[in-house]
Amino acid sequence: MIDRNQQWRLARTPPAGWPQADDFAWHEVPCPEPASGQLVSRTIYLSLDPYQWGRRRSGVEKPGDVCHGRTVSQVVKSRHADYAEGDYLFNTNGWQAFGLTGRDISNFGYMHPRRIDPGIAPISTAVGVLGMLGLTAYSGLIIQCQPRAGETVVVSAASGGVGQVAGQLARLKGCRVVGVTSTPEKCAFVRDELKFDSAVSHLANDFEAQLASACPDGIDIYFENVGGKVYEGVLPLLNRGARITICGMISQYGNTDGRNAGELWMATGKPYFDRLGVQAHSLFVGNFVADHQARFLIEMAEWLKEGAIVYREDIWSGLEHAPSAFMAMLKGGNFGKTLVAVAKDPTRT
Ligand SMILES: NC(=O)c1ccc[n+]([C@@H]2O[C@H](COP(=O)([O-])OP(=O)(O)OC[C@H]3O[C@@H](n4cnc5c(N)ncnc54)[C@H](OP(=O)(O)O)[C@@H]3O)[C@@H](O)[C@H]2O)c1
Repeated sequence: MIDRNQQWRLARTPPAGWPQADDFAWHEVPCPEPASGQLVSRTIYLSLDPYQWGRRRSGVEKPGDVCHGRTVSQVVKSRHADYAEGDYLFNTNGWQAFGLTGRDISNFGYMHPRRIDPGIAPISTAVGVLGMLGLTAYSGLIIQCQPRAGETVVVSAASGGVGQVAGQLARLKGCRVVGVTSTPEKCAFVRDELKFDSAVSHLANDFEAQLASACPDGIDIYFENVGGKVYEGVLPLLNRGARITICGMISQYGNTDGRNAGELWMATGKPYFDRLGVQAHSLFVGNFVADHQARFLIEMAEWLKEGAIVYREDIWSGLEHAPSAFMAMLKGGNFGKTLVAVAKDPTRT
């Protein structure tokens, strides 16, 4: 018997800077009832992603809205012809314990709901390596940057959700892979478990020198997740004809001085790009769903099955912790793909 729903809603349009606890408000409301063509699902995993901060800061998400988020869920009541009670699905319940999916519910944007087969991989991966994050890494690295065996690839935020996949894809393509991350534990994970050739800490005083010695033949591909100091360390090492995928610039997401991070990024790189013929590709994963998601899901499922790609998740337990987990993740407090376990995963023993 389900009668109550729990939700985090946006309490206010956040002030400039990084998220704060006061941005979020906890609500307890009646559980939704499905109309014809709809279903109610119980959120099992909630994905926390940096882009959610962009939606909140820019006003796409309004005060009073349930905070947006991709989810892995299980159907508890169905009036939808394609789904039965007990089915697992990828959907967009947001930061709440139960959500509606189906007719007249248009919260999914470019990622349509889809059924998840728990026999293929753990269901949590549908919001991680076998979901939007994996597709982001695949699109940026393989489709945009076209890696060739022997090239040197640098990946920033290398131990995080996108970074860990991007670097391993580069390794599978025969590249020399250098990961940039922060703590000694994350560096060890990147080297020992993800099997990158080298890991460098952006916290080191001599970060630029360490990066240069990890890339003796220069850099052919840079997978940009953070911007700022790491980007500035990469620029002088770029080779002629290097490719960059501009996936994100997380170090700039709390800027308060009104600077346009993208314009600044381009202006800083332009002298290098002009001289070296560097191609810098903007990346928005939504542009790759229609043409590449189906193939990606097949290939990635195979790599996971073979153990060719491994992944780490950082799972917080309990919806009540979503704001804390979100704030921590944006500052590097996560270790792997950040998830909140909202309900017990029936497929995990
Ligand atoms: N273009 C797209 O369509 C798309 C789609 C998904 C994600 N993204 C972007 O991809 C990037 C990674 O996202 P994710 O979800 O996988 O997050 P994530 O990497 O799991 O977590 C964020 C990581 O960023 C690093 N970081 C934070 N502040 C930093 C700073 N000042 N300097 C250096 N590193 C910093 C931290 O790692 P360390 O501990 O290593 O510092 C932290 O763990 C983000 O920029 C995100 O916006 C883009």
